[in-house]
Amino acid sequence: MPKNLQNDIASILIDEATLQDRIQAIAAQIDADYAEHDELLLLGVLKGSYIFMADISRKIKRPHEIDFMIVSSYGSGTKSHGGVRIVKDLKQSIVGKHVLIIEDIVDSGHTLTYLSDLLQSRSPASLKICTLLSKPSRREVPVDITYTGFEVPDEFVVGFGLDFDELYRNLPYIAILKPSVFGTDT
Ligand code: IMP
Ligand code: MG
Repeated sequence: MPKNLQNDIASILIDEATLQDRIQAIAAQIDADYAEHDELLLLGVLKGSYIFMADISRKIKRPHEIDFMIVSSYGSGTKSHGGVRIVKDLKQSIVGKHVLIIEDIVDSGHTLTYLSDLLQSRSPASLKICTLLSKPSRREVPVDITYTGFEVPDEFVVGFGLDFDELYRNLPYIAILKPSVFGTDT
């Protein structure tokens, strides 16, 4: 039988309207903070940021470029294990650019620590982080986040770009999955 994604949802944590209101507020803040700067580059971390990127980019009024990197954490299931790998790097130089990393969620902090250190070594004019979600209780390494959409509890969440096993990214809200969906791989 075809899979119905809705059947796997235990509860909706953040609904569509709440997401859009918050993204609008962050975009306005970014417009204000970067008012003196040209050369703004929104750098999305794929795959999870693709929906957030599309929404925030359309709500930011200042001129900006977008680009993407694909970063993969070692490990499978719902836990990453601290190892990070660049699967697709930038083609362009970021020297002199104001780079704003767009991320779906900061969990342990390993992915963004690795990525920030790498990008900082390439001499951008500035480097800041914007994440839709953050799970502060799970942090293993500190991450300096300038823009956070929502702090969420220590639950595995899906939707709005975030996946479990590559599914659920297209749900238009942030949801908590039923424990039965995880099977034994948690
Ligand atoms: P970190 O390196 O532990 O901070 O993990 C960051 C990455 O793990 C995110 O970019 C997500 O791809 C993934 N991740 C962490 N928590 C969740 C979650 O609750 N749902 C879906 N993906 C998650
Ligand atoms: Mg993921």
